[in-house]
Amino acid sequence: MQEVKRRKKSLEDSTEKLLNEQIKIEATSAANYLAMASWCEQHGFANSAQYLLQQSEEERGHMLKFFTYVLEVGGSPQSPEVTNIKHNYESFMEIFETMLDQEIEVSKSINNVVDHCNSVKDHTTGSFMQWFVDEQREEEANARRALELFDVIGNDGPGRYLIDQEIAKIAKAAQAG
Ligand code: FEO
Repeated sequence: MQEVKRRKKSLEDSTEKLLNEQIKIEATSAANYLAMASWCEQHGFANSAQYLLQQSEEERGHMLKFFTYVLEVGGSPQSPEVTNIKHNYESFMEIFETMLDQEIEVSKSINNVVDHCNSVKDHTTGSFMQWFVDEQREEEANARRALELFDVIGNDGPGRYLIDQEIAKIAKAAQAG
């Protein structure tokens, strides 16, 4: 059965490998956001915790999108092993610095898959990837906005409280979009 299925596969092995790596990256993002949500809740930033839980769910959705795509084109998606999740953060601001860094890394990785699709003329996967290109623009923008709040509002006690209130608005807009 496996042999029959693989012979029918339209996906190049090199593309399948990259998509499986992307599945793992999305799963890692989901797990990282869970850990960040836990830190925020434990430090009194309830709105940020909710936002990060919402982000974690989105990342799991991204992982499933890749997973089902690989299945759909006859490949073998791998359920990823996710380890070494960081649970300890030095500050509230570090959470959002990490978020932006993570999203920038995901964007680079998505762009790399798109470049690869172009090089092997896989327009089917290239077209599938466009959704993620647009999604990353939005995710990076949200992470940047959250981080900018620390400059605009200030990083002292009351400032952090206000930032947490503002994060609720970003979360709501992200959910609506
Ligand atoms: Fe699915 Fe935020 O990268």
